[in-house]
Amino acid sequence: MNLHSHRKDEHVMIAEKLYRKKSSNGLEGVRLIPANLPEISLDEVSLSTTLAGKKIEAPFFINAITGGSETTDRLNEKLAMAAAATGLAMAVGSQSIALKDPAFARGFERLRSINQDGIMLANLGAGHPLKNAEQAVRMISADALELHLNAAQELVMPEGDSSFYWLDNLVELKKCLNVPVLIKEVGSGMTPQTLKILAENNFSYVDLAGSGGTNFAAIENERRKGKETLSFMQELGLTTAETLLGARKHERELHGLALTASGGIRNAEDIVKCLVLGAENVGISGMFLHVLIKDGTDGLIERIEELKLGVRTLMALLGCRTVSELKKTQVILSGELKNTVEQL
Ligand code: FNR
Repeated sequence: MNLHSHRKDEHVMIAEKLYRKKSSNGLEGVRLIPANLPEISLDEVSLSTTLAGKKIEAPFFINAITGGSETTDRLNEKLAMAAAATGLAMAVGSQSIALKDPAFARGFERLRSINQDGIMLANLGAGHPLKNAEQAVRMISADALELHLNAAQELVMPEGDSSFYWLDNLVELKKCLNVPVLIKEVGSGMTPQTLKILAENNFSYVDLAGSGGTNFAAIENERRKGKETLSFMQELGLTTAETLLGARKHERELHGLALTASGGIRNAEDIVKCLVLGAENVGISGMFLHVLIKDGTDGLIERIEELKLGVRTLMALLGCRTVSELKKTQVILSGELKNTVEQL
């Protein structure tokens, strides 16, 4: 089997194996405060918001996971079916494999025929040249392109990169592409410093991708057979709550950068907390992958509809009709979280 394809299978298998070893996404340190006089009815609540400048009907989406092997192409097809059935936006996993070997492009291309009208995001690493980025977008007629920053993963990956000059390339891609570009981490959390650099360079969309969910350093450590385990690399990064609060603290310097929150999102409460802390929308990978593997496409569709209802219900309890109103509600932070944010 192609080595790159094999890695895709391993990522899914190990992510699922480690799913239960969830660390903290920090959101337990954020308390929502119900309204005693909500002055609202449940059916007045609108879940719609935006993702990479496109209108979406639910404030959460299927974030990048996979594609590029027989097994992972099947998983992607099921994710695309669930996205089409529920109206959720969906990002595909990195398409670099399909650029190296066009035989793997078909698996990605098929997703567009399954999810013809949905919002779909292409995905590549931050170092790819313009022609690759254009090809990835064309492959799925993408509405936007996610470019991932994954230094921690590459450094632990046995066959990973060791050189990370990305910023100039990202600026060039953003300038030349004719779809919106969203810069994402993969679980180390975007620092306020990085967000300021991105804002200064006129980026508009960022996925904070905090720690507390799928941990790529841990996944790659599992793949370091016969090599020393770099376990300390798994403990680094800002949690999802910390990245959001860091961004909120430095909001004025971020020039309206639209935030996606992700990392360890498991339920409606997590989603609403992220929206209250300033996210426009919320990405979910590990949990959706887990539900898909355990309960199949129908189970995933059911879970997505439950989440929509859960978010709607919580929004009503907070007295909020829209996602943007959520940002005005008050939260109580744990002492520990408050202390950490003071240092950001
Ligand atoms: C991912 N993720 C990911 N991200 C990306 O930008 N390109 C990719 O190819 C992949 N591949 C991938 C494979 C698997 C199996 C998983 C579970 C995840 C990272 C993902 O988009 C997200 O940033 C993190 O997983 C954190 O979110 P969760 O999983 O905690 O919800």
